[in-house]
Amino acid sequence: MKIIRHPVEMHEFSSALGKSGKTVGLVPTMGALHEGHASLIKTARQNCDVVVTSIFVNPIQFGPTEDFVKYPRPFDKDCGVAEANGCDIVFTPGEREMYPENFSTFVEVENITDSLCGASRPGHFRGVATVVLKFFNIVAPHVAVFGQKDAQQCLVIRRMTRDLNLPVRLVFAPTMREKDGLAMSSRNAYLSSSERRDAALIYKGLSAAENLYRAGERSSAVLCDAIRGIIGASSLLIVEYVEIADMETLASVTTLSTPSLAAVAVRTAASGTRLIDNVVLGGTF
Ligand code: PAJ
Repeated sequence: MKIIRHPVEMHEFSSALGKSGKTVGLVPTMGALHEGHASLIKTARQNCDVVVTSIFVNPIQFGPTEDFVKYPRPFDKDCGVAEANGCDIVFTPGEREMYPENFSTFVEVENITDSLCGASRPGHFRGVATVVLKFFNIVAPHVAVFGQKDAQQCLVIRRMTRDLNLPVRLVFAPTMREKDGLAMSSRNAYLSSSERRDAALIYKGLSAAENLYRAGERSSAVLCDAIRGIIGASSLLIVEYVEIADMETLASVTTLSTPSLAAVAVRTAASGTRLIDNVVLGGTF
């Protein structure tokens, strides 16, 4: 497995691959790779000749009080995980290379970034869209793989790709979970053992909503109450939002008639760790 650190080298390498007729798959990550990331790398492996995993903790998608500095960066371990899952190239640029002095161009995806995580993380999706477009330009992938766990991120990137005619096929891979249902996340490492235990309630709540939906329930209020009721059993979890949103626009839904996203964000009371999860009701990504 090759490690490339400079965007110019990455671009030259990728262009040469493209010219030789090879398809390139990109898995953008911020490192601290777990089985969720591994599943994306495997998906890219199945879809492309050459798999590039980017590892870059993107400063411009973190708010001033968020965990940019303490975000885990176990680079050598990450390279082992990437290689074991079929990655050919780890692209890990420096902050200076990605954001040179006087950097001033950003991608703003409007409307669908206003709700859910966008409401409490102003500027977050602008940072995500900007870095992902930069990666698309540097790596020129034929296919890019993202995880459904970050549902709003998937929809923002899909919107950007359509709006800006980006020549890349997007693949959204299912959420990988721990045995008790908790969605795998690099941030789970911040949880205390009691927070970790209670965090399983998030997916328990979402699963209850899925069951109610299957049984015919179409009221967003009833479904959201069921989710809140289950998560509310823990005093260690503070709900940031529980929402049912239209899968295309992410506008809030009252009565479900089209595929809808049931989405949850919580913060843990003690460590302030932010956890998100979702399920799609009545459809897929
Ligand atoms: P990061 O949080 O490292 O996630 C990288 C990719 O892994 C994302 O597409 C995310 O949805 C996916 N992922 C995370 N947990 C997963 C799980 N449990 N199952 C399946 N996929 C999972 O998301 C980012 O980084 C950044 O915002 C990025 C897109 C790299 C831009 O900086």
